[in-house]
Formats: sequence, structure tokens, C-alpha cells
Amino acid sequence: MRTVFLNGEFMPADEARISPLDRGFIFGDGVYEVIPAYGRRLFRLAEHLERLRHSLEGVRMASPYSTERWSEILQELIERHPEDDQSLYLQVTRGVAKRDHAFPKDTQPTVFAMTSKLLPIAEDIRRDGIKAVTLEDIRWEYCNLKTIALLPNILLRQQALDEGAAEAVLVRDGEITEGAASNIFIVLDGTLITPPKGPRLLPGITRDLILELSERSGVICREATLTAGDLKRAQEIWLTSSTREILPVTELDGRPVGNGKPGVLWTRLITLYQDYKRDYSKISLAKPLG
Ligand code: PDD
Repeated sequence: MRTVFLNGEFMPADEARISPLDRGFIFGDGVYEVIPAYGRRLFRLAEHLERLRHSLEGVRMASPYSTERWSEILQELIERHPEDDQSLYLQVTRGVAKRDHAFPKDTQPTVFAMTSKLLPIAEDIRRDGIKAVTLEDIRWEYCNLKTIALLPNILLRQQALDEGAAEAVLVRDGEITEGAASNIFIVLDGTLITPPKGPRLLPGITRDLILELSERSGVICREATLTAGDLKRAQEIWLTSSTREILPVTELDGRPVGNGKPGVLWTRLITLYQDYKRDYSKISLAKPLG
């Protein structure tokens, strides 16, 4: 039985109880984070906690813990499990209250965290890449906040799966935003490009790391608006996230991307990414790359 953290206590998952009146359950009124741990060390924790702070502020909720306390709790949860590599999920909701759209007064937030085993990316995906389809982005205008209300993302991901693809690439007003649960990069004429941050996409922790690693190793990269036409001309397309790292898209809307194989720049960045992961345990949490 795995241990979870709920409202200040560690307990077996089957003993954790949340009221059906919790606003997370009733309204999807909460925010979350997904943080990988490699070698039992939470990866880019400071960046994830900063994004959590930003999401909480964006939905006008106070943070239940200081950064130091969050770090202690989350690290303890990792240490209570045997796997070296884990995926940690945490969520904070506005708490338990009589159902009313308006914010409740004097309600304690509900804080929940759990971990699961983080599996490496399958060999066939590394060799062959994945299929994706472009779909209309049906989400709201605060996609920069990591909220638990994920129904549009779920519908989009499922539609992609129903069409035989692994992920949806989202298009809004003719511009590419991100994937249903990932950020997007393309390689166009040798330059690595990702859409700029803004309210229509999540500021991915993996995205930022890829930009950092690229700049550090002389890969030409920039942030620019992308259109469906750019996707068609791209030599490479990648989808990035904390749990799936950098996935090469080798088929988009039934057509091969580039030569239909993971590209040379993907091979370079995934190597840099693995090296960074390996070295991470030796780098101080607060210290930037360098
Ligand atoms: N999702 N965009 C969306 C909509 C996401 O849900 C995610 C990650 C990302 C990538 O962000 P990051 O690199 O910080 O993981 C982009 C997580 C993994 C999830 O919901 O499970």
C-alpha cells in the first residue's frame, strides 16, 4: 500500500478520506503540480514550487505552506517509497464548504500528494516516435495556471487516442499553443522554436529546461508564434512534459514529420537532458546551470 499525504498527515492511500463537499470534487476548484524525482531527488523542485505559487495566486488562494515546508513534505513522501524514479502529484483545493460558487470564508484548503513509479520512456517510442493530430484548442484563457479542471484537456487527449494518435497538438485562432498535456517545440530550417509564454499555454518546467540546455550548448533556439503551416514545414516536432520528457512526433495528421524518424536535434537534446538529470543530484537546488 502506498503512502499519501493529506492535510498534514502521511497515511496509507486506502485510509485517506476527502469530503464529497470538497470544492475540488464539486467545482474542480484547485491547482496541481506533477514533479518527477530521479534517484529519489525531486527534479527542478524550486521551479515547480514557484509555478505552484503562481497558480495559487492566479486562482486567489493562499499557499498552505512555505517553500521550505513544501520541500520537506514532498521529499519525505518520496523517501517513504522504494523506487528511485517517481512521479509526484500534488493538489491544493479551496477546501470543504457548502456548495456556492462564491469563495467560502474561513475554509482550510485541502492538500493532497501522492507518488507513483516513474517508468522510463519506452524503447519503441525512442526509436519510432509518436503520432499526433492537430485539434482546435477548446480551453479557457488561463491555461498558464495549472488548475485541476482538466475536462477540455481530457476530451482532447481522448479524441487524439480515438484517432490513433498519442497526443493532440492544439490550435487556437490559427496559432499553435501546446499539447493536451505537453508543450511543443519544432525544428524549422535548423532553428528550434517554441511558442512564447502567455495565458494560452502552461509555462512548462521541461520547456524552460530545454531552452536553457539549448542555449548553453549552442543550439539556435527562439520563442515565436507558430502556425499550422510551420508545423507542416517542420523537420522535427517534439512534445515535452515532466513525465514524458521530450517525445519526438514522427507523424502529424497522418503525414510523416521530416523523414518520419526522430530527428538529429532531438537525439542531441535528449542526450543533454539525460546528462542533466544524472548530474542534477550534484547541483544545489537553488543554483542555476553553469
Ligand atoms: N502536464 N502543458 C500542459 C497542458 C500540461 O498539462 C503539461 C504537463 C505541460 C508540460 O509541463 P511540465 O514540463 O512542467 O510538466 C504543458 C502534467 C505532466 C500532467 O498534467 O500530468
